[in-house]
Amino acid sequence: MKVRIAPSLLAADFARLADALAVAEAGGADLIHVDVMDGHFVPNLTIGPPVVRALRKATRLPLDVHLMIERPEATLSEYLDAGANWISVHVEATDHLQRCLDIVRKGGAKAGAAINPATSTLALSAAFTDLDYAVVMSVNPGWGGQKFLAPSVEKVRRLGHEARAAGGRVAIEVDGGVTESNVGELVAAGAEILVAGTSIYGADDPAAAIGRLREAAVATVQA
Ligand code: DX5
Ligand code: ZN
Repeated sequence: MKVRIAPSLLAADFARLADALAVAEAGGADLIHVDVMDGHFVPNLTIGPPVVRALRKATRLPLDVHLMIERPEATLSEYLDAGANWISVHVEATDHLQRCLDIVRKGGAKAGAAINPATSTLALSAAFTDLDYAVVMSVNPGWGGQKFLAPSVEKVRRLGHEARAAGGRVAIEVDGGVTESNVGELVAAGAEILVAGTSIYGADDPAAAIGRLREAAVATVQA
């Protein structure tokens, strides 16, 4: 199993996003995680399609765009046009999950669905074969730097079992409070994509922090 590390730009300096991309590349990141917040689904407000378009031009890494927005079906095509490579929508934010996933896949991107900490893995069960990845939120979305919610580990394991039982091949992403101290148990539970904001961009040397996260993850895979 390949573990992917996805630095979250939310924890970077928004006035220096190009530097944040360069440091992610230097550290060997696999994806760039881009948090889109609309001020409705979550209280915070961040960025939209124009910034995604600018980021797309500024890095060779795939952009993993996490849409924390109401009714994502209304604007998904704008994120596809802007060059998003992976797009996740929240199951709590749409009445039309499969329609969203279909739009994303037809637009040539990987289709993901995210669940909040209080949402059951069963909310994804009707869509397992339509999903490329599922995002287990390990904090309540809205801000970076929050404390990891420990029950998320078991949720990752359960989601993996349920998806496999349904015949789906779903990569599991974990987002929120990911650090060197919990990546081991997350990978052991089946997480393949690790999003990390504060533990990377809050570190003195973000490139080295990516390396340490990978070492902790790979140690688990090899154990
Ligand atoms: C939370 C965002 C996360 C966040 C993670 O709402 O979806 O992607 O940036 O940041 P850390 O790693 O600081 O919890
Ligand atoms: Zn996110």
